[in-house]
This record gives sequence, C-alpha cells and structure tokens, in this order.
Amino acid sequence: MKKIAALGLAGMLAAASTTAIAAKPEDAINYRQGTFSAMAWHFGTMGAMVKGKVDYDAEDFSRRAEIVSQLSKLPMEGFMPGTYSGETDALPAIEDEWDKFEGGMNALVERSAKLAEVAKTGDMDQIKPAFGEVGKTCKGCHDNFKD
Ligand code: HEC
Repeated sequence: MKKIAALGLAGMLAAASTTAIAAKPEDAINYRQGTFSAMAWHFGTMGAMVKGKVDYDAEDFSRRAEIVSQLSKLPMEGFMPGTYSGETDALPAIEDEWDKFEGGMNALVERSAKLAEVAKTGDMDQIKPAFGEVGKTCKGCHDNFKD
C-alpha cells in the first residue's frame, strides 16, 4: 500500500512540473513581469525600512514579507518554452541552464519564507541578514538570466 501511495505521489509531482499551460507567450511574459513588479513594490518599501530611510513599522514590514513570500511562488509558471524573445528581458540562457534557474527560484521561495518568519520577531538584528539573503537571490538571478 505504502509503495503504491509513494508511486502515486511521484506521479503527481511529475505531472505538476510538466503541466501544460494554456496561455499565449505574451500572456506568460506579462504574467511573470507582473508578479515580479508586485514583489519589487513590497520589497522596495521593506528595503527602505531596513536601511532606515523610512520608519520601521514591524506590523507593516511583516505583512509585506508575507506577501513577498507568497508572490515568490508565482513567476516560475510563466517561464515556459517559446517565451524568451519579444517584449521580455528574460535571457534564453534560462532554457539552457534550467536547473540553475530553477535552483534560483527555489532559493527565492525558501529565503523569502524565512524572511517572513523572522519578520514576526520584529528584531532588526535578525531581519537585516534575512532580508540581505533574499536581496542577493534577486540580484544573483538577474545577473545571470535577466537582460
Ligand atoms: C531565479 C531568477 C530570479 C529571481 C530569484 C528574481 N528574479 Fe526578478 N526577474 C527575473 C527574470 C528572468 C526577469 C525578466 C522577466 C521578463 O522580462 O520576462 C525578472 C524581472 C524582474 C523585474 C522587472 C519586471 C518587469 O515589469 O519587466 C523586477 C522588478 C524584478 N524581477 C524584481 C525581482 C525581485 C525584487 C526579486 C527578489 C525579491 C527578484 N526579481 C528575484 C528573474 C529572477
């Protein structure tokens, strides 16, 4: 029984990663750019708080960290075949180095979840490094995969 359940789960995971998405390339590009823009909207204000450019408001910071954490799961789906030309800054290297790109996306999901967790403490000594880790993940991927 256990073995069958495990096989079933493996099958589901495989299916999820190869889900065919019914969308035109330009819709996928708009979708991923939109999710990144929304992420940057919140991350920017969080950065201003970390740097002391605007007053730190623990509750507001925590709310934004939670939003970034949820949004970080979204863009991946928009990186589908046939979407690396036209109105996009996404480089074709994404397809050639898919594992590395996927690793960057997974790191973003994990690190922003950590940041959302740490944000609840309201302790800037913990928040600052966790914020820095997420920022490095954004930049690392952009350096490699964004024009
Ligand atoms: C694993 C790779 C990866 C990570 C991590 C990543 N990005 Fe991006 N980002 C991209 C790519 C690729 C594009 C270009 C998308 C396009 O133009 O189709 C992009 C585009 C953007 C854009 C421009 C959107 C637009 O309207 O054109 C913003 C803003 C952005 N990212 C912010 C962020 C922020 C903030 C983070 C971290 C919290 C982040 N990104 C993390 C790969 C990444």
